[in-house]
Amino acid sequence: MRDNGATSRSEALYERAQKVLPGGVSRNTVLRSPYPVYAAHAEGCYITDVDGVERIDFANNMASLIHGHAHPAIVAAVADQMTRGTAYTMATEAEIRYAEHLCSRNDGFDQLRFVNSGTEAVMAALKVSRAFTGRPKIAKVEGAYHGSYDFAEVSQTAAPANWGGVDAPESVPVSHGTPRGVLDDVVVLPFNDVERAVQILDRHSDDIACVLVDLMPHRVGLCPATQDFVDALRSWTTANGALLVADEVITFRGRCGGAQQGYNLRPDLTAMAKMIGGGFPVGAIAGRREVMQVMNPRSDDYRVPHSGTFSANPITMTAGRTAMELFDEEAVARLNNLNRLAMDEMTGAISRRGVEASVSGAGSLFQIHMTNPAPTNYRDAYPAPEVAARLSRFVDLLLGNGILLASSGTGILSTPMGEDEIGQLVAAVDRSLAGL
Ligand SMILES: Cc1ncc(COP(=O)(O)O)c(C=O)c1O
Repeated sequence: MRDNGATSRSEALYERAQKVLPGGVSRNTVLRSPYPVYAAHAEGCYITDVDGVERIDFANNMASLIHGHAHPAIVAAVADQMTRGTAYTMATEAEIRYAEHLCSRNDGFDQLRFVNSGTEAVMAALKVSRAFTGRPKIAKVEGAYHGSYDFAEVSQTAAPANWGGVDAPESVPVSHGTPRGVLDDVVVLPFNDVERAVQILDRHSDDIACVLVDLMPHRVGLCPATQDFVDALRSWTTANGALLVADEVITFRGRCGGAQQGYNLRPDLTAMAKMIGGGFPVGAIAGRREVMQVMNPRSDDYRVPHSGTFSANPITMTAGRTAMELFDEEAVARLNNLNRLAMDEMTGAISRRGVEASVSGAGSLFQIHMTNPAPTNYRDAYPAPEVAARLSRFVDLLLGNGILLASSGTGILSTPMGEDEIGQLVAAVDRSLAGL
């Protein structure tokens, strides 16, 4: 027992935290009931909390760590850069080297600009799309999370009471006070429903600047987009003078140059973030030269002034390049194979236990659902209260069994993992299912 009656260091820290941080945290993601677990240190794919409990980290800071924690090559590269300064009001070669590397991974990346988060990358992509096309509206998939820019977050938390008919989903605000104008300028599409999506887009064809799509939106059930859906969005945007923006903030890890390569898709713009920072805050927007030129102050087409105090700082550039150079074709394939093994074995454990659950995912990401079959669109994925409660209990049981997952039941692999860690994951899933 601690001085203040708390039974663990995490509980005691949370009591202090609530006095100075609304809800006790700066990001809701780390909240758990009755209190968050506080990290002490981490190495590779293992993380230890302030009470000394070690777990395998399948959350990887919400998919932002591709090599787990404290990878020696990243630590050494960053430490070396730190001794020479962390940020300057001068451009650096580190920025050029990293831009060259990222552009070399995907033929559709003629140019890119760095920012500091996925939210910012998506925001920049939407602003560039509006500036390039001269149109006001964006279209996005119902329920998909694209960060917290007003327009990008519309309908991310739509609920049965306000989501409207599936033929014309409502634009539902996330934050109270979202201006009506924002909602009017966002067109909401059902995921993987080609016919309805095209009908909805057709109603706004003169006004749509871009269609924003995540190829495997995690809040829509981590179900991959179908090739038909992706093809339909690509042809509709091309035919109607709109841009296609891929949000690869999470899915970029699926292939060397992003999950889009698995679809033979060339979006006009791609938003990236998370793992491309090598463990540091990052975002990037990449795409066609002609479109990117609206951000070029030296171009006749200059339409979007763009800056950011910490954008392309040499720490992030160094960490990001080091991480991504290590995440080559071979490393991507190995991790994806490991994820397939994990998904197959967890599915096997679920069916042997005969419980109502399922696993979805692709690349190096999986999600465990307390429904069977796994959801394939946002309305299916929207959990009944008892299903949400079961999932939360399951994720807690896993935590007690040595596995840290994101609270949505999402698991994210990192390169230090091997078959041993997958074996431990499957055994923990099996025990937790039994404990439900
Ligand atoms: C698909 C997607 N886009 C954008 C974002 C926003 O990224 P950030 O948290 O870096 O602002 C996220 C974050 O989870 C995301 O999952």
